[in-house]
Amino acid sequence: MTRLVNVSNRVALPSGSSNAAGGLAVGVLAALREHGGIWFGWNGRTVKGEPAGPQLTQDGNITYATIELSERSHELYYNGFANTSLWPVCHYLLGYFRYERREFDEYRRVNSLFARKLIPLLRPDDLIWVHDYHLIPLASELRRAGINNPIGFFLHVPFPALEMLRVLPVYQQLLRALCAYDVVGFHTPRDLRCFRDALDSQGLGDGAGADRRNHANGARMHADVFPIGIDVDECQQLAMQTGEHDHVKRMVKHLHGRQLLIGVDRLDYSKGLEERFQAFTRLLENYPANRNQVSYIQVAPKTRTGVRAYDDIREALEQTAGQINGRFADIDWVPVRYLNRAFDRATLMGFFRESSVGLVTPVRDGMNLVVKEFIASQPLYDPGMPVLSSLAGAAHELSDAILVNPYDVDGVADAMHRALNMSEGERRERHSSMLAVLRRNDITAWRTRFVEALLQAQGQNQTADP
Ligand code: G6P
Repeated sequence: MTRLVNVSNRVALPSGSSNAAGGLAVGVLAALREHGGIWFGWNGRTVKGEPAGPQLTQDGNITYATIELSERSHELYYNGFANTSLWPVCHYLLGYFRYERREFDEYRRVNSLFARKLIPLLRPDDLIWVHDYHLIPLASELRRAGINNPIGFFLHVPFPALEMLRVLPVYQQLLRALCAYDVVGFHTPRDLRCFRDALDSQGLGDGAGADRRNHANGARMHADVFPIGIDVDECQQLAMQTGEHDHVKRMVKHLHGRQLLIGVDRLDYSKGLEERFQAFTRLLENYPANRNQVSYIQVAPKTRTGVRAYDDIREALEQTAGQINGRFADIDWVPVRYLNRAFDRATLMGFFRESSVGLVTPVRDGMNLVVKEFIASQPLYDPGMPVLSSLAGAAHELSDAILVNPYDVDGVADAMHRALNMSEGERRERHSSMLAVLRRNDITAWRTRFVEALLQAQGQNQTADP
């Protein structure tokens, strides 16, 4: 039987807390649950000497195969090239960008380590699905070692426009590495356009914007759009069941009937939290009737703590939250509750269901699954409204959310006020059309479409002229 072998830097092990793990881990886990398969990647631990692994853990129909990373790799590959070069470039945030050649060298070494550790686990009829910017050179490493299985790559972050990509001194190498895949997938048509544009600039496309290109071994690469989704029923069920959970009950009790705005994000500078806090301040300034009538809860678990910029943003946000509360709080009202910690998924879905407004305003995001989870968690009879950044991939599908430019803090404040006051009829109408989109592009559709593309590529490559 054909097995699906998923490979990503981060693996959400069943024993660990995946709460802060982000969209990739949530998506891959949901995609694997249905049909099973292997999930190969880093176990989150670093060691001084030689990294061990793979260690195999079986949980239902999923086999987790995880390896360690050396402290040096973690610093240079993960904190360095992946999260201080690639991440800022992909998110159009050059203020955070830095490039060091030795970090890129380590990035390539870790990709070759992943290949070496993965190869003994592979069977000839496996489909290999590689995820995200950490592992762009993995297919070329596997091909070099003689692996001929179909290999797909999915980018969970935005693919930047050529003029942004060119900031990376090694962008040409990365583009060539992507051509070693059979299928390359993106969240939105905009990402795909940028990718084709970049290929054409290197003479790697066919000049007509087409998505196929013969690569070294004569096979073809197919690039396409596969918007990631969620398990809508699972979210709905979790949201309905958690009303009685302790955290949800305590949260509702302390609202005292006020309307709730909620944000749930990894504590990342790309999530636009500083701008969002400013927008909430403007809401209270520009629409004073909201004072003592609304509360804002921001859940922001820590992430990538080895990267300086992530520590800085934590301090900045703590200060801003304190300033807002210092300025507006009343004897019986705390405007912002800023929670620097993770909650389990069920609790979050329960929080969403009790909220009037979901704030999802990243300054750039590949897709953003939080907005999809927020929508799925809403009660059909009285749904809350998402305020969604037009710079998140999800905005492409969710045109019935209230779309905002996250940098326009007055505009975001207006959108918050509008969402808080939208009629029930309009909310229901918008919600039902967004829910239909979520069902059409759910997690099963994402997995099925990608695997089909991979199987098709395999068929085509087998019949292609030598
Ligand atoms: C984003 C990335 C993922 C990453 C996640 C969490 O969703 O696209 O690849 O796993 O953030 O970040 P971390 O660095 O903790 O894995």
